[in-house]
Amino acid sequence: MYTKVWKVDKYVDNLRNNPQVVDAAHLLQENEVVALPTETVYGLGGNAKSDVAVEKIFAAKGRPSDNPLIIHIGDKKQLTAFVAEIPNKAEVLMEAFWPGPLTIIFKKKDGVLSEKATAGLETVAVRMPDHPVALALLEKCQLPIAAPSANSSGKPSPTNAQHVLDDLNGKIAGVLDGGATGVGVESTVVDCTEDIPVILRPGGITKEQLEAVVGEVHLDAALINETSKPKAPGMKYQHYAPNAPLYLVNGSNTFLQRLIEEKQAEGLRVGVLATEESVESYSADVSIACGKRAELETVATALYETLRAFNQEKVDIIFSETFPNTGVGHAIMNRLQKAAGNKVIEE
Ligand code: TXA
Ligand code: MG
Repeated sequence: MYTKVWKVDKYVDNLRNNPQVVDAAHLLQENEVVALPTETVYGLGGNAKSDVAVEKIFAAKGRPSDNPLIIHIGDKKQLTAFVAEIPNKAEVLMEAFWPGPLTIIFKKKDGVLSEKATAGLETVAVRMPDHPVALALLEKCQLPIAAPSANSSGKPSPTNAQHVLDDLNGKIAGVLDGGATGVGVESTVVDCTEDIPVILRPGGITKEQLEAVVGEVHLDAALINETSKPKAPGMKYQHYAPNAPLYLVNGSNTFLQRLIEEKQAEGLRVGVLATEESVESYSADVSIACGKRAELETVATALYETLRAFNQEKVDIIFSETFPNTGVGHAIMNRLQKAAGNKVIEE
């Protein structure tokens, strides 16, 4: 299949009548799948009411069928069509964070969405993305759009249109290229079906931000203790992995430098994922600064691009610095731990 690439300037007025957006919206209405930019990562969108469209999403990504998709909407009014009830706390969270990187799990109304999109669960994950191109597309097609991250299953999520093409060229109808995404890690997934909201996946909105508006928020047991079964089916899969084995290093820069030298002495080509503050202190074969430690948001923005860059550089082993597990650092460490398959070296 030929994959169209539509370049769209996200700053122009009247995006919903932009010919590229209109073309992409028509393809969605015909149950084709197209990749679209959001503020977090690129998504692979398809009509959430159509089994045909949803099957195309799973096939293009090679995604396990037990892993449900997030439904993207452009207007809160769309919710009542497929959500059974909107609890008060969910209302407060939507008011505070939509459009934005927060996905809310609701009880589902049956018979509206494709059962394949929700993997047969009684709940549904919904978010309103904060990106002008995504919002224009949602408004134009007038459909709830199921959209997982637009990567091949297991790979790092795409933060620009080229990443999408690297994984899915020839497998999807098109990609709307609205430039690089901003947040860089996926939305926070919060379950609002119980009295106290529970974070199932840390992401662009921090636990601290949620608690500031809604009071007590819990973490899914699987985020605290590796042996618990995650409530978000997707969290059990290995994800984001670069081709070379990745090790997280808990220790000083000099300890990390010693590890690099040891591996180089064995003849390996060594990569290091560092930050602007420390990158010059290492003698790795490939040293990449992934944002600034003093501004963790910049680390999140650059994380997936950095993981993908190591594949281009053909390193044999990668060491990564670690980050504090608070604020957006929680999402960064969650993704790094998955990318590393939990391989951690302590000083
Ligand atoms: O930022 C994002 O959320 C991006 C952009 C494209 O919007 N999307 C994204 O989708 O990250 P995906 O499919 O890569 O991740 C969705 C996560 C998975 O871990 C999935 O298991 C979980 O949300 N999920 C979806 N529906 C659920 C449900 N009803 N209950 C629990 N977890 C659910
Ligand atoms: Mg994903």
